[in-house]
Parts: sequence; C-alpha cells; structure tokens
Amino acid sequence: MTAVDETPTGDRSPTMDFDVYVHDSMDGSNAAWDALRERCPVVWSPLNGGHWTVAGYDDVATVFRDWETFSSERTDPERSSVSIGAAKMPLLIPEEIDPPRWKPLRRVLAEILSPNAVERLRPRVEHWVTHTIDQFIERGEAELAHDLSVPVPSLVTMEWLGWPAEEAASAASVFHDMAKFPGGTPEHAAGAARFQWLMGEVSKQLVARRNHPRDDALTAIARYEVDGELLPQEIAEAIVFMTIGGGVDTTTALTSAALVHLGLHPGDRQRLIDDPGLIDSATEEFLRYYPPARTHARTVTTDTEFGGCPMHAGDRVLVSEVAANRDPAAFPDPDSFDLERFPNRHVSFGVGIHRCPGSHLARLEFKTSIREVLRRLPDFVLDVDGVVEYPNWSVIGGWGSIPVTFTPGPRS
Ligand code: HEM
Repeated sequence: MTAVDETPTGDRSPTMDFDVYVHDSMDGSNAAWDALRERCPVVWSPLNGGHWTVAGYDDVATVFRDWETFSSERTDPERSSVSIGAAKMPLLIPEEIDPPRWKPLRRVLAEILSPNAVERLRPRVEHWVTHTIDQFIERGEAELAHDLSVPVPSLVTMEWLGWPAEEAASAASVFHDMAKFPGGTPEHAAGAARFQWLMGEVSKQLVARRNHPRDDALTAIARYEVDGELLPQEIAEAIVFMTIGGGVDTTTALTSAALVHLGLHPGDRQRLIDDPGLIDSATEEFLRYYPPARTHARTVTTDTEFGGCPMHAGDRVLVSEVAANRDPAAFPDPDSFDLERFPNRHVSFGVGIHRCPGSHLARLEFKTSIREVLRRLPDFVLDVDGVVEYPNWSVIGGWGSIPVTFTPGPRS
C-alpha cells in the first residue's frame, strides 16, 4: 500500500521494524498490536518514513489530548498529517488544523451534527434503513456489505448534505470501493477515478449553494461565516470532504463488523433480539472491539520525552485506537466481547479536541440498521467461507463481502 523506506534512527530508541502496512487481516493486525503494546508500548520504527508508535491506552489518550505537543496540522501539502504513509491525500478540515484556527472551523460541524440536529434526522435514517432492507428482503439472500452497510451511511450522509438523490449512494461508496480492493487492481483504479470526480462535484455543489441556498448541510457550510467572511472555497471543500471521507466508510465498517459478529455468535444475536435495550452498551462494545479507524498520526512540535523516549520536533507519531482498546490495563479481559461491558471508555471516536463530531449520527445509523436486521431477518445465516475482509488493516478496517441467507419477508 505504501513504500517502506527507512529513516535513520539517530538517538531514537528503542527501535523496531514495525510496518503498519503489512496487516492484511483483522486477527493479524490485532495480534501485532497486542505484541507491540506488551513488549514496546512506545517505540521508534524506521519504516514508512520513520515514526514513533504509541500503543498503551493512557499514552494514546495523552497524545490525542495534548494537541500542543502532538500537532494535527498539515505540514506537507500532499501528505496527510493524521495518517502515516506516502499516499497523496486531500486536506481534511477540521482534522488537520490546530487551535486557534481549528475552533471556528469545528463549530460549523458541531452545530449541524449536534445531538438535537441528529435527532431531527431520525425519520430519514429510519426511512433509508427500511428502504434499503426492502430492496433484498423478498430474495432470502443478500450480500450485507453491498446491500446494507455500504448504502445506508452513504444515502443518509449524502441526503443530509443535500446531494442529488440519484447520485447519493454511488458518490459516497467510492471510499468503500477503494478500501475493498487492493491498490494496483482495476477496481481500485476505478474507485480512485470516481474519487477525483467526487471532489469536483463537491466543489461545484458548494458554489451552487453560495448562490442558491437550500435547507441542507452543504448550504450551512457554503454560507458559514468566520469573522464576517465566508469560508474560502478550499476550506469549505475540505470540510465537506471530511464528512464524506471520515463519516461514511467508518460507519459502514462498524455495521459490517456487527453483522459478521452476530453471524458468528448466535448467542449474542439472540440476547440482542430478546433484550433490545442492550443495544446501547452493545454499540459501545462493537466500537471498542472493532474500531473502524485503527490508527491516527500526529507530528511532535517540540523536543520532549514521552514514555521514556526522546522525541524530536518534527517526528511523526502513530497512535493506535485498536491497541488502546485492547489494553488490559484499561479493559478487564479485553479479548472477550461483552455486550454489557461497563464502563467502556474506548477511544474509537478519538479523544480530546478532535474527538469525532459525527459520533451521534454514526450511532443512530448503526443502531437503526442492526435493530432492523434483527427484526426483519433475525434468522440470517452467514456464509462464513464467503466473508471477505479489507485487504489492509492499517488505517481503516472493514469487510468487502458478507453473504447471508434468511427466511424471505415482505417489503415494508
Ligand atoms: C463509526 C463511525 C465513525 C468513526 C469510528 C469515527 C472516528 C473518528 C475519529 C477516531 C476521529 C478523530 C480523528 C483524530 O483525532 O485525528 C474522528 C474525527 C472526525 N470525524 Fe468521525 N468517525 C465516525 C463517523 C463520523 C461521521 C458520521 C461523521 C460526519 C458525518 C464524522 C466526521 C468527523 C469529523 C469532521 C472529524 C474531525 C473532527 C475535528 O478534527 O475536530 N465521523 N472520527
């Protein structure tokens, strides 16, 4: 997925050749992170441009929280500051901005993704989940990634933004297609081409909303003012892009994780059917156990010692949500999946100022999808041999295919 080059270690120690980009399965990635956390919770790896790796729960939370020492600000216009690696990435705002510039740019999303604003979206989320299940419920078979966990977040997010309905699902699924197919394949290349198209469309839609406002999130962003000035076009684009790129395939991955889990663990499925009230604690446990965003990155702003290691200004730091969520110091028996785990202070939505503002919407989409699957196809049988994971579990983990059969039911 990315070039593995070596950067001299200097006085950085301890060191280990840890290559985050080789993890091609969830179990392999989990095992690698567990081993790293146990043996070397803070370590320098000279691979992938050279970076520190931080794996313990408390240390991960500290790096996330201490934005003054561990900056998110983009320094290279071509390269993401919040992931490690060489891939060219468009700017994401507000994620790749530090205070004080971060605050007003975050505010626009905090308003349109607040708990009250999301509650107003509930009927539309329910509509799209029902509509999506209606498309396959009479067949008695489905591929639940393609048929449910991809379209629901795409349709909800794009409608909320104000996208033309006929393009909504295909526009947002571009991120899933790129994650599902390995780089170098024609399918990945087709996804990358649609990605360029999507960026152009975002730009056009924002210009249109400036001149012709509507009641949608695109308009809220296009006409948002900081100190009496509209946002520059490229900033508005980066905000919209963040909501699609950061919000759609992550929610897809969480839903897919739960569908696979419930297919493999009929006991957990039956408990959720018998006691739907368990969905709240179950959602947090799905988030802890299957974090869609597996890692993030930061840049050290000033020479410092962290975890007993000498860090230098400009050093890159990789923090691992998955390692933190599996830390036995923070979660008793972390390898067990416990539908009623409490407390459950997972870091799957991040920690600190950049903590995910889309968490309320993600939870609503997820809970509605799982509730309706358990209500309308409660006896689904997973074709275990047909389940396909994403080919790389470095940044986002997820599933490319989840084939199931079930007793057919009526459309709603
Ligand atoms: C299960 C689904 C989701 C997961 C696991 C997730 C995860 C995360 C994480 C870990 C961060 C922190 C990144 C960092 O500190 O660098 C984040 C930030 C963000 N997420 Fe989400 N997210 C999800 C859904 C959403 C949705 C639905 C939206 C919007 C519609 C969204 C929009 C954002 C934005 C705008 C930020 C940046 C916030 C800032 O920098 O202040 N996310 N998300």
